[in-house]
Amino acid sequence: MNRFLLPVSVVGTVIGGTVLLKDYVAGGACPSKATIPGRTVIVTGANTGIGKQTALELAKRGGNIILACRDREKCEAAAKDIRGETLNPRVRAEHLDLASLKSIREFAGKIIKEEERVDILVNNAAVMRCPHWTTKDGFEMQFGVNHLGHFLLTNLLLDKLKASAPSRIINLSSLAHVAGHIDFEDLNWQIKKYDTKAAYCQSKLAVVLFTKELSRRLQGTGVTVNALHPGVARTELGRHTGMHNSAFSGFMLGPFFWLLFKSPQLAAQPSTYLAVAEELESVSGKYFDGLREKAPSPEAEDEEVARRLWTESAHLVGLDMAHGSSGRGHSISR
Ligand SMILES: NC(=O)c1ccc[n+]([C@@H]2O[C@H](COP(=O)([O-])OP(=O)(O)OC[C@H]3O[C@@H](n4cnc5c(N)ncnc54)[C@H](OP(=O)(O)O)[C@@H]3O)[C@@H](O)[C@H]2O)c1
Repeated sequence: MNRFLLPVSVVGTVIGGTVLLKDYVAGGACPSKATIPGRTVIVTGANTGIGKQTALELAKRGGNIILACRDREKCEAAAKDIRGETLNPRVRAEHLDLASLKSIREFAGKIIKEEERVDILVNNAAVMRCPHWTTKDGFEMQFGVNHLGHFLLTNLLLDKLKASAPSRIINLSSLAHVAGHIDFEDLNWQIKKYDTKAAYCQSKLAVVLFTKELSRRLQGTGVTVNALHPGVARTELGRHTGMHNSAFSGFMLGPFFWLLFKSPQLAAQPSTYLAVAEELESVSGKYFDGLREKAPSPEAEDEEVARRLWTESAHLVGLDMAHGSSGRGHSISR
């Protein structure tokens, strides 16, 4: 019996240490206690995962929260949960499908008409490693939702954000952007063989490049924009990957995922921090890994690539370059 004591206690210590270390390495809780009464916040993809937790954190701080999601039922249910947990009645659901330029325009039009202000826009929604799907307008799904959808939405809401300044835009990227490359010859994967991993990485690199270029364009307006990697979290993001769907790997690897991955609540701390921290009021165009500012990949720092991506994106979503407001988008032929 005694011979098991040492190994068991070593295993126990390792597990306990990992749990403690996990939160330390992950960056822990948002250090800011700032509240946001009277501020209007939009969080995309807020029915689950990091988006839902971000909406909850910001609702606790007194904001008027708009959950922007594609599934109306899940969105209403999440809003109800958040109202119940925070006792903040100013939390509501709105329909937004980022895989449809029409839906994005309808959502933005409603916000512009009905909301007095928009103080914080959290571009959180994403799809990861899905099969070779396309959006309603024919864009490759990951590039279309993760980058182009948020690119159009943000541009349509810019005047409102400027009128509400100081205001903030937070773009959820990923560490995966470092493996990304923007292929201007084939942004939508129409020529080369589809690689679902590379498509995700490209879309997340595009998010950082968009952040950088937008920040340059917003200088002097009082609107800031930053990108972040939230850490690796236990969410539904891996729903299209084999590992996530297999009962065997769920059973066998579940405990390791629990040990090594952040909870959605912890992964929502960086978005919350960028949204509220007073010390970040004039910080813009930066990339954060968790709560810490960090240099992104060299391609993400390339201003020429960022400018070109902006021009291509504006063309694809049909943005009027002068006002960022009209146009209907260019369907991709398949
Ligand atoms: N989890 C991680 O380890 C990790 C790591 C790095 C970066 N991130 C980033 O963190 C963000 C949040 O991810 P998560 O882990 O919370 O993922 P998640 O649990 O899968 O949540 C993603 C959200 O995006 C929504 N969404 C997907 N397609 C949409 C569309 N066409 N229109 C509107 N909403 C759409 C989903 O809605 P449905 O539920 O209706 O599909 C869901 O609400 C993402 O930008 C992700 O890339 C996450």
